[in-house]
Amino acid sequence: MDVILVGTGYVGLTTGVALAWLGHRVTCLDVQRSKIEQLRDGVLPMHEPHLAELMGACDGRLAFDVMGDRLPHRADVVFLTVGTPPNEDGTPDLGQVEAAARRVGASLREGHTVVATKSTVPIGSGSWVASIIREEALRHGATGAFSVASNPEFLREGTAVADTLYPDRIVIGADDTRALETLAALYRPLVEQRFDAPAFCPRPAHMGRVPLVATDPISAELVKYAANAFLALKISFANEIAELSESIGADACEALRALGLDARIGPRFLQAGLGWGGSCFGKDTAALVSTAREYGVRLPTVEAARDVNYRQRDRVIERLLGELKVLKGRTIGLLGLAFKPDTDDLRDAPAIEIARRLIARGARVRVHDPVALERARREFPHETGSACAHAEGVALESDAVILATDWPEYRELDWEGMARAMRTRLVLDGRNFLDRRRLERAGFRYLGVGR
Ligand code: UGA
Repeated sequence: MDVILVGTGYVGLTTGVALAWLGHRVTCLDVQRSKIEQLRDGVLPMHEPHLAELMGACDGRLAFDVMGDRLPHRADVVFLTVGTPPNEDGTPDLGQVEAAARRVGASLREGHTVVATKSTVPIGSGSWVASIIREEALRHGATGAFSVASNPEFLREGTAVADTLYPDRIVIGADDTRALETLAALYRPLVEQRFDAPAFCPRPAHMGRVPLVATDPISAELVKYAANAFLALKISFANEIAELSESIGADACEALRALGLDARIGPRFLQAGLGWGGSCFGKDTAALVSTAREYGVRLPTVEAARDVNYRQRDRVIERLLGELKVLKGRTIGLLGLAFKPDTDDLRDAPAIEIARRLIARGARVRVHDPVALERARREFPHETGSACAHAEGVALESDAVILATDWPEYRELDWEGMARAMRTRLVLDGRNFLDRRRLERAGFRYLGVGR
């Protein structure tokens, strides 16, 4: 099939590359010329494991183009995968979705096009998108037929390729059968897992047919928000149990592990720590709460999950104050800046927020991140203090080291040497990730979350 994706962020690019790799003819569009030129040279605009390898194996089926006033050619499916960044008040900014929909409308020359929204748009946006396309098509005398569908995306940054090739489910929300049939045909290779898994991203054991959930557009839009809210809720629940564990002398890691072994609960997204960051959970939980309010409905569990999450960042400062008493004039090392490992994304990253609070209290920060350091220095020059080329450098003359992102290499650092370089041997393991025994042997006072 011929597919166009408007927007080359994580979702657009990963989906486009995967569909081309699976055999479709795909064009990825973006308004940023520099990004398109980079992509044509095979360079990714972000750090995402295995995406470049998959892109390199598309055998000429993948093209990149600058988004003009019209789409460059007709397509069976046009995905809207532009960003919906948060406005000041937390609601998503739909400017890019509207602009993309207008261009699609102006381009509907012939045949039938399915316009599928993958951008996370407020619940009920499907009919708004359709009305913009219709309006613009009329204005331009574009007579091609179209249907609008919602096709939410569930991939995670850092594991985007595996999440796309081996999804837990595919959700399609459409009011007409034509849209549903077209998208079902597009996804057939994924649903049936009818492809040889790439060596760098093997198929999970016991992977069967992927459930395809066909529903109405509003329910599909709701699934996206509900999934993120529930995962956010799980993390905040784990953090709440961790806080209680600290007071009563329990070990939250062990308690949560045992909790997750209950098949009804499951072990994933139950890791206590500094809480969630990134561009999704914060934005989507806020949007869900505000949509519900518009309809006079309160979502107290989701609101509480947000409060608990952002309290984790305060608690880091409180715990440091408890240990060091004053922060003014102290030096604090921060290991990890990205909101999670395997990405260079810094949006709503706990580490950046913590650095900001430390600096506001008169502390100096020494920071490191294996891939996000350069980006952090560009985007957050104030919060990056002394940027260290080597992770061990954050320990130099420091009064504490905080592990903010669980990059695997941080477990294997020269912790003994770091202990010698520090003024106070204090480590706050914000992801319960380090080898506690080894650190204690090296003379550290070790603080985990909930332990
Ligand atoms: C999240 C969802 O997991 C995806 O399903 C969804 O498609 C995506 O948002 C989106 O809406 O686009 P993402 O934000 O990329 O994906 O990353 P996650 O792996 O979900 O991690 C989010 C945050 O939660 C990270 O800061 C991570 O460190 C934190 N986390 C995760 C915990 O604190 N504890 C856990 O147990 C798991």
